[in-house]
Amino acid sequence: MATPKEKPTISLYSNRSSLKWVVLVISVIISAGSIIYTDQLVSEIREREKKQIDLYASTLEYLTNESEAPNTNVIFILEEIIDANTTIPVILTNEYGQPEYYRNIPKADKITDEKHRKRYLLNEIKSMKEEREPIMVTLTDSNNQIYGYKNIYYRNSYLLVQLKYYPYVQLSIIAIFGVIIFAVFNYSRTAEQNRVWVGLAKETAHQLGTPLSSLMAWVEYFKDTFPDYEEIFMELQKDVDRLDMITQRFSNIGSVPQLLEGNVYEIVDEVVQYLKVRISKKIEMSVESFPNKEILANLNKSLFAWVIENLIKNAADAMSGKGSIRIKVMKVNEGQVAVDVTDTGKGIAKNRIKDVFKPGFTTKKRGWGLGLTLTKRIIENYHGGKIFVKRSEPNVGTTFRILLKL
Ligand SMILES: Nc1ncnc2c1ncn2[C@@H]1O[C@H](COP(=O)(O)OP(=O)(O)O)[C@@H](O)[C@H]1O
Ligand SMILES: [Mg+2]
Repeated sequence: MATPKEKPTISLYSNRSSLKWVVLVISVIISAGSIIYTDQLVSEIREREKKQIDLYASTLEYLTNESEAPNTNVIFILEEIIDANTTIPVILTNEYGQPEYYRNIPKADKITDEKHRKRYLLNEIKSMKEEREPIMVTLTDSNNQIYGYKNIYYRNSYLLVQLKYYPYVQLSIIAIFGVIIFAVFNYSRTAEQNRVWVGLAKETAHQLGTPLSSLMAWVEYFKDTFPDYEEIFMELQKDVDRLDMITQRFSNIGSVPQLLEGNVYEIVDEVVQYLKVRISKKIEMSVESFPNKEILANLNKSLFAWVIENLIKNAADAMSGKGSIRIKVMKVNEGQVAVDVTDTGKGIAKNRIKDVFKPGFTTKKRGWGLGLTLTKRIIENYHGGKIFVKRSEPNVGTTFRILLKL
C-alpha cells in the first residue's frame, strides 16, 4: 500500500508581537525626544524671564540712586517698568511685605473688593516665594543713605507653565486617541472573525443536514427490512448518531445556542465513556465529582461535550499514548462549577502558555491549532464562563480549568 501523502499544511499562526515592540520602542523614543526638547525650551525661557526681572530690579536701583528727586516718583517709574512686562506675574511689596502694585495676575483684577484682593495677593506672594526667591531692591538717596527697600515677587509666566506641561498633555491625547483607534480596529476585526466562524459553521451544518437525514431514513428502513442483521445496523446507527451530533455542534456554533440546565458530571462522563474505547488503552481516564454527582449548570450540551472532547484529545496527544487523565467536576465558591482536566503529559513551556488559545497555534505536525480557540469561544462567548491553564509543568503535566456559573 502506498504511504498516504503528507498533506500540505497552511500555517495559520502568525507572530505579531515583534511588530508591537517596534511600535512601542518608536513611540517611547518620540515621546522622550519631545519631552527633552520642550524641557530645554522651558529652562531657556525660565532663564530669560529671570533676567527680565533682574533687569527691572537693577533699573529700579539705578534710578533711585541717581534720582535727586523725592521718592514719590520712584513708584511711578517702577510701575512703568513693570507695565512693560505683559507675561510674567509680578507683585511689588514694601518693606513690610504689603503689596503695593501687581501685574499680570488676572484673578486679582477680577476681585473688586479691596480687602479680598489684598488677601488674595498676600496668598500669591506666599506661593511665589515658594517658587522663586523675590528680588530685593534697596532704595538709597543721593547721599547713599538707605531709606528703604522693596521686594519684587514673581513666578513663571503662564506661557512657561503651559509649555512645561504641553508635551505631556499632547502625548496623553495622542495616547488616548491611539487606544481608541486600536480598540475600534480590534473590535471590527473580532466582529469579522465572528462572522466567518459563524457563517462557516452554519454552512457546514446545512450541507451535512440533507445527506444525514437521508442516511437516517435508510438505517431505519434496513433495520425493519433485514431484522437478521440488527447488530450491524445498530453499529451503523451509532455512526449516524455521531454524525448527527457533529452536525448539531456546527449548527449550534452558528447560531445563538440554547442553554439548558444540565448535569455537568453526566455530560463529562458521557464524553469520557465515548472516548475511552477510542483512545490508547494505556491511557487511564477517571471522572470525579464534588460534593456529589449532581452538579447542575446552564449549558448547551452538544457544545460543552465538544469542549471536553477537545481537552481530552489534547491531553491524550500530550502523553504520546501512555498516562492518565483525571477530570474533576466540583462546586467552588461564588456559585461556580469548576471542571479541571489534568493530564500527565509533556506540559506546556511557560512562555507558550499565553499562546495556546490563539488561533493557529500548534506544536503538532498535523495540528490546526483551532481546538482550544474553539473551546475558549464556546466557554466564554456562548456560556459566559472562563477557561485557562491552571497549571502546567514540562514533563509533569497540565491542568486546564473551566469555570461555569452554577
Ligand atoms: N494538555 C496539553 N498538554 C500540553 N500541550 C497542550 C495541551 N493542550 C494543548 N496544548 C498545546 O496547545 C496547542 C494548541 O492546541 P489546540 O488549539 O487544540 O490545537 P492542536 O491540537 O490542533 O495543536 C497544542 O499544539 C499543544 O502544543
Ligand atoms: Mg487540539
